[in-house]
Amino acid sequence: MNQSLIARFYSKLPLSLKGRKKASQEWLIRQFKDPYVEKAKIENYRCRSSFKLIEMNQKYKLLNPGETVIDIGCAPGSWSQVCVRAINSDGRDKTKVKGFLIGIDKQQIYPLEGVTFLGNTDFTTQAAKEKILKALEGRKVTTIVSDMAPNSSGIKSLDQENIMELVNSVFDFSKNLGANTMLVKVWSNGELGKYVNAVKEYYETCRYVKPDASRSDSAEMFILARGFKSKNSTQK
Ligand SMILES: C[S@@+](CC[C@H](N)C(=O)[O-])C[C@H]1O[C@@H](n2cnc3c(N)ncnc32)[C@H](O)[C@@H]1O
Repeated sequence: MNQSLIARFYSKLPLSLKGRKKASQEWLIRQFKDPYVEKAKIENYRCRSSFKLIEMNQKYKLLNPGETVIDIGCAPGSWSQVCVRAINSDGRDKTKVKGFLIGIDKQQIYPLEGVTFLGNTDFTTQAAKEKILKALEGRKVTTIVSDMAPNSSGIKSLDQENIMELVNSVFDFSKNLGANTMLVKVWSNGELGKYVNAVKEYYETCRYVKPDASRSDSAEMFILARGFKSKNSTQK
């Protein structure tokens, strides 16, 4: 890292941030330089991640008024903000059908109009699935989006195992509900080919997507599956 750049940004940091480790300083500098961070502030999004979903939605038309959507790993809530507008779950646009949105996360989530948030809830548990089903009140789920990510352990193989556990739980849920679209965040790893093949058994199309707003130096990407075939697909 360029030392003069560190010095320049470091001089602008609040006093409480000074004295932090180099890795924290570098993270802060990256935030300062990131145009999406600034844009998120200007456009009132809770974080920069919003632009990943906006971009994918613009390209693939994932979210439409009147749909029922589940946003998994939703805290702090910027994907939910994007979903609310796109599916009209707050009913703001009286000319369009009102959608329904559930957001779930292990963390607490600050309320947002148009979303039923299930905070402090680990999605991988049976209790979480039951909470979601109850909140759905019989509605048919159109789309499941997941931006869930495990905390990084620093051990590559363990991180891969953890992310695969999360994406598998999203896929199981998605096929049980027969959601027509599933968008799930993954990290590039050797297990993905197997996962994509399993998803293809249930979905007509399945592709990798890397939006521009996803940092190019990150292993993060998304798998987009569309066109649910049937619950009785061959490989169960
Ligand atoms: C990258 S953040 C999501 C950002 C969010 N999409 C937004 O735009 O505001 C990843 C989230 O996944 C959540 N998460 C990780 N594992 C989870 C689990 N097992 N159950 C529920 N949420 C989980 C984390 O708590 C974290 O809030």
